Amino acid sequence: MQIIDGKKVASEIKNELKIQIDELKKSGKNVPGLVAILVGDNPASHIYVSSKSKACQEIGMRSVVEKLSSSISQNDLIELINKYNQDENYHGILVQLPLPKHIDEEKIIESISPQKDVDGFHPISVGNLLIGKDTFVSCTPAGIQELLKRYNINTQGKHVVVVGRSNIVGKPVANLLLQKNQYANAIVTVCHSAANDLSFYTRQADILIAAIGKAEMIKADMVKEGVVVIDVGINRIEDPSNKKGYKIVGDVSFDEVSKKASYITPVPGGVGPMTIAMLLNNTFKAYKKLGGWN
Ligand code: GUN
Repeated sequence: MQIIDGKKVASEIKNELKIQIDELKKSGKNVPGLVAILVGDNPASHIYVSSKSKACQEIGMRSVVEKLSSSISQNDLIELINKYNQDENYHGILVQLPLPKHIDEEKIIESISPQKDVDGFHPISVGNLLIGKDTFVSCTPAGIQELLKRYNINTQGKHVVVVGRSNIVGKPVANLLLQKNQYANAIVTVCHSAANDLSFYTRQADILIAAIGKAEMIKADMVKEGVVVIDVGINRIEDPSNKKGYKIVGDVSFDEVSKKASYITPVPGGVGPMTIAMLLNNTFKAYKKLGGWN
């Protein structure tokens, strides 16, 4: 069994980007920039946004965080996004979700220029992914594919079973791995909460992607010998032996499932760090496409 070390791969990707940004700086060029827009005081969102902004700074990208009150109106938020749509110093725009209830998330996502949609949430990006055109792929699915690539795990003709159908992970990762490309071209099954017998599906998986949001739900008897396990879950469970009183676990029971797996991502340190690395990668891609490269 081999551990897929997402932390190590993410740090390699960040180093590769930093080298390119250092070169840009040396030649006096503008550098890529990312704006993260954070509305309200959701503690998890604050942590995510500050990790994203810290990662930008580490590699020399321009980064700004717009912290807005939860009472901001939808129109004012759209106006701010429009300002960044036109700002040549910012190539990526990220609006951290979830948004307060009075704001229509779909309208906000649609107001981001598709050329700066580094989260890959805009319907144009999602549509392009579906029909196999080059586009911004949302960061967690892109990170999963990058891990498969860097560990040289063959996906051609393999049965990938995705558990979870969210717009952020389940649906886009299924579409990504379905495309007729290297590190894709898989036979993909998506299952979700309506499955009567989830293990009927999961036991068929050559590659199992767990994006359910339920702590340690995938048990050893639900997978076959030699499975590749990608665990997207980040769940907090009580742990009196830990100083903080809790620990972070995935959607997979790591201790038991790792005994049957050929490869497995740990939580933390698997998919999580890749999500941020791919956000930086998408921002660099937006920068190049918007012409900063020339
Ligand atoms: N909320 C949870 N995950 C994400 C993400 O990847 N991007 C944004 N913008 N919001 C999120």
